[in-house]
Amino acid sequence: MPVKELKTGVYSVGALHPDRRLFDEIIPLPDGTSYNSYLIIGKNKTALIDAVDPAKQDVLINNLKTLKIKEIHYVISNHAEQDHSGGIPLVLKEYPEAKVVTNIKCKEMLKELLLIPEDRFKVVEDGGTLSLGDKTLKFIIAPWVHWPETMLTYLIEDSILFPCDLFGSHLASDDYSTSINTDKLLKAAKRYYAEIMMPFRTHIQRHMKVLEKIKIDLIAPSHGPIYVNPNLILNAYKDWISDNVKNVVVLPYVSMHGSTLKMVEYLTEALKQRGIEVKLYNLTEADIGALAMDLVDAATVILGTSTMLTGAHPSAFYATYLVNILRPKIKYISVIGSYGWGGRMLDHIQGLLTLIKPELIEPVIVKGYPKSEDFKKIEQLADQILIKHKELKLL
Ligand code: FEO
Repeated sequence: MPVKELKTGVYSVGALHPDRRLFDEIIPLPDGTSYNSYLIIGKNKTALIDAVDPAKQDVLINNLKTLKIKEIHYVISNHAEQDHSGGIPLVLKEYPEAKVVTNIKCKEMLKELLLIPEDRFKVVEDGGTLSLGDKTLKFIIAPWVHWPETMLTYLIEDSILFPCDLFGSHLASDDYSTSINTDKLLKAAKRYYAEIMMPFRTHIQRHMKVLEKIKIDLIAPSHGPIYVNPNLILNAYKDWISDNVKNVVVLPYVSMHGSTLKMVEYLTEALKQRGIEVKLYNLTEADIGALAMDLVDAATVILGTSTMLTGAHPSAFYATYLVNILRPKIKYISVIGSYGWGGRMLDHIQGLLTLIKPELIEPVIVKGYPKSEDFKKIEQLADQILIKHKELKLL
């Protein structure tokens, strides 16, 4: 990624990773990603804000050499996860005078994860500042976006917020938001929010209140494009973290011999006839990032599953586990599916929902292939969903 000057003395010096296809060994990256790192050259001191993933640390070092940087005094670490912190040890080696500036919790994590010695740290508090001469950095401790040690850095004189992961997107670009199709950018940002930030919705609500009091001209996250119009992403987040849901049913399903599939198809048609949008995901081939994105504002989840041995199909377990840990703001949940000779699939699925408590709408579990009385129950399920969505004034 070539060096780019954002404002006088403020440079983007990070790296693109366009061919990376998986994050945390689970999150699909259809558009790759970037590890954005920023260099701020003040009158007296120079600071680097976050580093990059070790796979691309040579790009960062080359960018610093391109700028002929002889001294870095501070490496600001907003977040200990290795896609940003992993390159810090090399930066400290290349710039032996540099101190890692971070909060106490992040310091302890960096010591554990990267074996950075105690004497290389300078600890800052919430609201603390660091002068570079004519530029001043202010630190906002913002836990749980998305680790416990996360913080945001604000460059006061230039009104730039460096929020690290928060407001990021997995797009292999550090370009300005204005040069990227807005729909594409917001889709990538929503996907990223769903996969990484959604479990921490209430924490983000708190942090957004703090940010409302700050003048922000640029948001420069550590993944994806830089927001020239901060309200684009701030307003999107306000919607995603709100309690508002949409007239949407997300329906992940797995069917071994076609019985559950028939029920899924019937319910889908019944819901559509009632004016309810349905997002179908065949779990044998589903893009879980797209599924997560649809969970951001869906009112209802219906899980469709065959019975395997005595319980839900393992793919349904996986989907339910994901729904639980992503903690979407869904209001209702139900299950449809088929069994051959018995089983406890419903108990198993309910047992997985430990972190969210959507209201359970009467499930429809049938023996073998669905029959006329079963289709009537599916119609009743669709009616119940319609009533619930109307109560929420979604249609
Ligand atoms: Fe981009 Fe949580 O690291």
